[in-house]
Amino acid sequence: MDANRDSWCHEFSPSADRWRNFLVKTQYYNGRCLIPAISILLLVAVIAVSDTYFPFPVVMPRTLSAWLSYSSFTSSGGRKADGEACDIFRGEWVPDPDAPYYTNDTCSFIHEHYDCMKYGKLDLGFVQWRWRPDGCDLPRLDPSRFLSAMRGKTLAFIGDSLAKNHMNSLICLLTRVAKPTTSWPSSEHTVYHYGGGYNFTVLNFWAPFLVRSELVDADGPAHTGLWNLYLDEPAAVWAPHVPAFDYAFVSASSWFYRPSMLYEAGRLVGCHHCLLPNVTDLTLRYALRMATRAALRAVVGSDGGGITAVLRTVSPSQYEGGEWNKDGNCVRTRPYRRGEKTLQGFELDFHTLQVEEFEAAKRAASGGGVRMMLMDTTEAMIRLADAHPSRYRGWTRRKEWMKEYFTISNDCVHWCVPGAIDAWNDMLSHIGAREGYDGLELREKDPEVVAKDRLGELMQMGLHEYNQRRHAENLEEKRRKEER
Ligand SMILES: *[C@@H]1O[C@H](CO)[C@@H](O)[C@H](O)[C@H]1NC(C)=O
Ligand SMILES: *[C@@H]1O[C@H](CO)[C@@H](O)[C@H](O)[C@H]1NC(C)=O
Ligand SMILES: *[C@@H]1O[C@H](CO)[C@@H](O)[C@H](O)[C@H]1NC(C)=O
Repeated sequence: MDANRDSWCHEFSPSADRWRNFLVKTQYYNGRCLIPAISILLLVAVIAVSDTYFPFPVVMPRTLSAWLSYSSFTSSGGRKADGEACDIFRGEWVPDPDAPYYTNDTCSFIHEHYDCMKYGKLDLGFVQWRWRPDGCDLPRLDPSRFLSAMRGKTLAFIGDSLAKNHMNSLICLLTRVAKPTTSWPSSEHTVYHYGGGYNFTVLNFWAPFLVRSELVDADGPAHTGLWNLYLDEPAAVWAPHVPAFDYAFVSASSWFYRPSMLYEAGRLVGCHHCLLPNVTDLTLRYALRMATRAALRAVVGSDGGGITAVLRTVSPSQYEGGEWNKDGNCVRTRPYRRGEKTLQGFELDFHTLQVEEFEAAKRAASGGGVRMMLMDTTEAMIRLADAHPSRYRGWTRRKEWMKEYFTISNDCVHWCVPGAIDAWNDMLSHIGAREGYDGLELREKDPEVVAKDRLGELMQMGLHEYNQRRHAENLEEKRRKEER
């Protein structure tokens, strides 16, 4: 049934038109995809203008509390919202004919590595999708509302180039309303500031291992370098800045494939793929687990001054038909269906340990002034294997210690901007939207929420009147029977 539901909207894929065709907004909505939307509209119209009632059980639209993924939050002294929670990370991609919301022409911040349009990606079908959770709606990021919710706040992205990719998409989504001024306190620390009354700051920290690292051999046992990792020392580039963060988005995984010597309390405890007979191979899973633990501790343990700590799960790399550094590529033209592709191998292990470390950190943090969220984007991303740059990206300067990495011919690791990764920011804006709440009440209601609430009230009223009328009719019938 799921597969069916999944497929009817996926049956077509936006055609292999080039970029400019997206500027001419062609309507290619599959009729069947429109039916639910049309029927809801009809329902509203019918309830509002007539006294026709509905002789079927009316399902109440989900309440506000269900709209937000409270299940993913813990908040100090706060309580979980009543009612059903909606997991925004389980769902499906549905067509979004209004996407994309920016292009390489309107956003000058796109890094050449993600700029698939500019570099000629042929099939742009992956652009016009949005993520729709099962059982609730996830509105697209509204830049004005987002910026007003974020006034006076600081949001930090900590991690590798995928953290940068995520940040890049956010900055571009916001360019519809405002452009930031950029500064670089160091080569590993970028600051985007929104002035003009917004007073919102986005920080990006380059910390691909999250913890302190040193390159000790540019070649190493696998020709991808050999690193010393200090698994209990959060990297100095970001950790001292934690008290300034309101939101910290932590993510890492892909750099852990590199051979490394692992240190704890300054002592060598083992390695990953160092191929030394006298050093225990603790594996890359151990390294990622301990580094994640150290990073979450650094965020959560920082006196808990109202910070929201977010751990984003592994972003799947999607090479097909070969290895990442050989002839593997990602040239699909349509998303996978639900269940068609699942996480495997190291990535499955990474995901599992990330969930475990998140849960442990959340338990440790309960009672402190910290909110925590697991941003579990993995399932969504595994289904859009066509949203990677492949070879449609800018040339990136080869660095000595990265030579292997950047001689890869096809990039099936990063995500095109604009593209599927914009959904990460729809999810992110949810966390911002939480700021608009005072306890469980919304201070400034989202117009869409207001409309849904109204629909719910109307349906309740209709149902009540319908029940009353049926009750009266039944009584009348009973009376007539008794008279006979
Ligand atoms: C955007 O991409 C198009 C190709 O799709 C290209 O012609 C144009 O020059 C690019 N714009 C910028 C500002 O790079
Ligand atoms: C801007 O926000 C910072 C906190 O990030 C705050 O300290 C500062 O006072 C704010 N400035 C203005 C002009 O509101
Ligand atoms: C492991 O053996 C090498 C020589 O083969 C030596 O240089 C190194 O110090 C040894 N490491 C440890 C941790 O004992």
